[in-house]
Order: sequence, then structure tokens, then C-alpha cells
Amino acid sequence: MLNERMPRKILSTMGIPIRSGKARNHNETMRLTISIFVGVVFGFFLGVSFPTLSLIRMTIPSSLLPSIDLTYVDENYSKIPTKSLWNAWSSLNKDRSTYNTLHNLNETKIWVPTNPRGAERLPPRIVESQSDFYLHRLWGTPYQDLSVKPKYLVTFTVGLDMKYNIDAAVKKFSENFTIVLFHYDGRASDWDKFEWSKRAIHISARKQTKWWFAKRFLHPDIVAPYDYIFIWDEDLGVEHFDAEEYLKLVKKHGLEISQPGIDPSSSFTWQMTKKRDGYEVHKKAEERSGWCPDPHLPPCAAFVEIMAPVFTKDAWRCVWHMIQNDLVHGWGLDFVLRRCVEPAHEKIGVVDTQWIVHQSVPTLGNQGQAEEGRAPWEGVRERCHKEWTIFQERMVDAERDYFQTRATILLLNSTGH
Ligand SMILES: *[C@@H]1O[C@H](CO)[C@@H](O)[C@H](O)[C@H]1NC(C)=O
Ligand SMILES: *[C@@H]1O[C@H](CO)[C@@H](O)[C@H](O)[C@H]1NC(C)=O
Ligand SMILES: *[C@@H]1O[C@H](CO)[C@@H](O)[C@H](O)[C@H]1NC(C)=O
Ligand SMILES: *[C@@H]1O[C@H](CO)[C@@H](O)[C@H](O)[C@H]1NC(C)=O
Repeated sequence: MLNERMPRKILSTMGIPIRSGKARNHNETMRLTISIFVGVVFGFFLGVSFPTLSLIRMTIPSSLLPSIDLTYVDENYSKIPTKSLWNAWSSLNKDRSTYNTLHNLNETKIWVPTNPRGAERLPPRIVESQSDFYLHRLWGTPYQDLSVKPKYLVTFTVGLDMKYNIDAAVKKFSENFTIVLFHYDGRASDWDKFEWSKRAIHISARKQTKWWFAKRFLHPDIVAPYDYIFIWDEDLGVEHFDAEEYLKLVKKHGLEISQPGIDPSSSFTWQMTKKRDGYEVHKKAEERSGWCPDPHLPPCAAFVEIMAPVFTKDAWRCVWHMIQNDLVHGWGLDFVLRRCVEPAHEKIGVVDTQWIVHQSVPTLGNQGQAEEGRAPWEGVRERCHKEWTIFQERMVDAERDYFQTRATILLLNSTGH
């Protein structure tokens, strides 16, 4: 906060006596400075409810408030008359205690249990528990910074080799989208030849996967302003896709989790995620016999793949919590997304009229490590299976624990304990 190098001139300007030359305890000075700072800020809030204070507010140089390096403004602020500042400060103080007496307040004793955990000491109206990816200016008035506040978010996990494909894909998303690129090859700065890249958010971590990034950078409270969140791979062909049109259909059909249909000529595709002619969207499919004992369950319904999912913010809030920190390849997520929406076979579906081509370009999959004579992709593939197994076991255990605990409580209740 207040800079250690804060010039003594300013402190004395603020009416704090400083015994120069003598080794006065530095900490004490800092404490004083900070409490004055707090006092000034508090006065600001009072000023809102006490119109009479607004005059006083004007006399406080605003540059005392931010934590910028004040050494630069040293010269000019030393010219502000000490006396008037001191008067302002002490009358703020007086008003504050009058206010507290009147309202029987204890400003040091805030505790609001309904605040987010850890923030109980704050007055609720100052709590800002959610954020966004909106870019701000460094100058001007904050509330004028944003001319548009995109309602949708699209992320691509990319390597520079796929730049032309991503360029084509991004152009299918209007200005109503915030664009986030997750870079797994460390070459985030090589994208600036694309005009859109300058308004995109670039996040870089070498050899990390889409779900690793999503878990770490798309926390539901961070992406809260976005109604829909696209979490897409980099190897998708988007010639027959338009994002705004897509969202119209998703809204019309009440899809909480969706994906565009996949070109049926793509190499391997589930029946469910294949684009189907003559439909706007579809929510169920038929697989080979024996694959779907329950027609309402994956892979015949309640199912989209992990390559190009689109979530409503509510569905994403649930899915984010379900993603394990070590489930970095995301295998198997397709089969459990249904746990996040109810009824899943109605709210999960595939959009047929806006469809994509899965180009199956091996990218991150090739960046494993060659070991014991095996190709890098083999190790990656094996790892995918391993993660999925671990995840399934955890899910089974967690569910069993939950139901056992509930059963115990019911039993105890019924026997009157
Ligand atoms: C100090 O004030 C003068 C005249 O008001 C101005 O030109 C100068 O830029 C100021 N210096 C700083 C560091 O703000
Ligand atoms: C204010 O704080 C004091 C001491 O911490 C406490 O005794 C008193 O009850 C508090 N008053 C109110 C109104 O909360
Ligand atoms: C962006 O959103 C606004 C408001 O929903 C809409 O009117 C406009 O058509 C959208 N832009 C595009 C390119 O679709
Ligand atoms: C157990 O019994 C109490 C009181 O009879 C009741 O309030 C509570 O909801 C019951 N719990 C469950 C899990 O049924």
C-alpha cells in the first residue's frame, strides 16, 4: 500500500509531526500513515451520506489515496497548506464519532456471516465477489472504460502452429464475445499480427491441457458475467458455424450444455454428436446394440463430447466443481456432465444447423515424452485412461459416502437418537 519511500514532506503535510534526525520508529510512522489513510477513506464514505462533508472532501488531494509512488508528486503536494489539511482531517474525525454515537455503531466490529467466507469483516456493500475478463483503460473515469460488456466467453487452447485455423474460428465469434487463448507452447506473443489478438486475453503455461487451464482460470466467480461459455479445442473447422446463430438455437431449445454437430464424415464420432440433417437440434441417438441400456443416458442421450462444449454459466458452475485438479485430459467428463443438469436428457443436446468439422490434428497429444521405445502419443493416451479410472473411482466412492451418511442420519432419526 503506502510506499515505504513515501516522502517525509507528505507526512508532515498531512499534519503528522516527524522528528527529523531522530530514529523514530519507522513502523509507528507507517501505522500512523495507514490509520490516517483509513480515516480519509472512511470520511469519503461518510461524505456520501453527509452532504455537508462534500466541501471538505474536495479539499483532500485525491493523489493521497492511491498507492502510486508519491515521490513524483512530492514537490507539488508540499505546497498544500498543512493547516487546512489538518482541519479537514480533524473535522472528519469529529463527524465520524458523532455519526457513530447517533447510530450506535461500532465500526471496528463488523462481522457479516452472509459475506463470502473469509470476507466477514467487510461491510457487505463493498464486497465484490465476482469478476470478469473485461479490459480496462489506464486513464479516464472507470465507469466509462467499457463500451461493450460481452455476455459470452470463448476460449481456445492453442499452439502457434494452428494460428490460421484459430484465426478463422475467432472470426465466427462476434464482438459480443470475450476471447481467451490458453497457450500451451509458450508463444503467446506471436499472435499479434491478428487484429483480434489485441483485444484477446492470453494465458500461457507450457504443455498444459484445456481442462487444466479451465480449472485454474475459469473459476465460476471469474466468468460470472458470461451467460454462455465455449471451451473449445483448436482443431475445429468452423466454415458452417456462426456463434450468434448457434446461441439463438441453444436458447430456443433450452440447452444448458451443448455442442455443434460434427460433420458425419469425421473419422470417429459418436452417433449422438453427429450432425443430423433436417433438425435444428437433437437430444438423443441410437448407438450400436448393447451400448445404451438406458436411452436417457450417455452415449445415447445427455451426452456431448469434450472437444467443443458450450455451457450456460449455471451448468459451468457445477462442472467446474466436478473437474478434478488432476483430470487434466478430461477423458470421461463427457459421461458425467449429465450430473450437472436436470433432467439431463432434455437439457443436453447437439445443434445440427450450426455444425463443425473435427480435423483431428494431433497437437498436444504429440507432446508427451518418448519412453522405452514408445512414441510420445502412446504415453499420453495411457495417461488419459489412467486419469479416467481414478476419476471414476472417486466418483463412485463419493457417491457411496454420501448415501451411507444420509442413511445413517435417517436411521438415527427414526430410532429417536
Ligand atoms: C507540479 O505543478 C506544475 C504546475 O502546476 C506542473 O506543471 C507539474 O507537472 C507538476 N509536477 C508534478 C510532478 O506533478
Ligand atoms: C461496541 O464495542 C464495545 C467493545 O468492543 C462493546 O462493548 C459494545 O457492546 C459494542 N457496541 C455495539 C453497539 O455493538
Ligand atoms: C451483439 O449483441 C447485441 C445485443 O444482444 C445484438 O443486438 C447484436 O446483434 C449482437 N451482435 C452480433 C454481431 O450478432
Ligand atoms: C431428523 O429429525 C429432525 C427433528 O425431528 C429433523 O428436523 C431433521 O430434518 C431430520 N433429519 C433428516 C435427515 O431427516
